[in-house]
Amino acid sequence: MKLSETEIAAIRHEMTLYEDPGAATIEALKIVQEHRGWVSDEALEAAAAVVGVTPTQMEAVATFYNLIFRQPVGRHVIMICDSISCYLTGYEEISAYLKKILGVEFGQTTADNRFTLLPIVCLGNCDNGPAMRINTDYHGRLTPEKVDAILAEYP
Ligand code: FES
Repeated sequence: MKLSETEIAAIRHEMTLYEDPGAATIEALKIVQEHRGWVSDEALEAAAAVVGVTPTQMEAVATFYNLIFRQPVGRHVIMICDSISCYLTGYEEISAYLKKILGVEFGQTTADNRFTLLPIVCLGNCDNGPAMRINTDYHGRLTPEKVDAILAEYP
């Protein structure tokens, strides 16, 4: 499998920014994910070849970062924080509500491919707990009503 010219050019550009081109590994994964939505084994191997690291080294980085998806995800990824501040301010109610209205458990994608639901460690939005991130947007002080309104913004 080959990456697109655009992906390869973007990765090569990142590699010029570091003394050690291998330091661009995480950026390479992010570029692949940006273009494909997730990082398949084949895409990971192709990206490793461009960066000049082994697929195992690339995989080690991919599995360390929880924002790199190694399985297909829906059009929008909901990450709900289960760390201490959010846990104390209503995580259980909000996560149960999300599971109920979406009809999925953690790690699953809705039947219409609209949302994937994942738990995540602290989003750095602790004073606004319970908090979640959808794609790159942060939402806090969640209530079931607020969740309904927020999800409507993601077709
Ligand atoms: S504990 Fe939830 S954002 Fe920090």
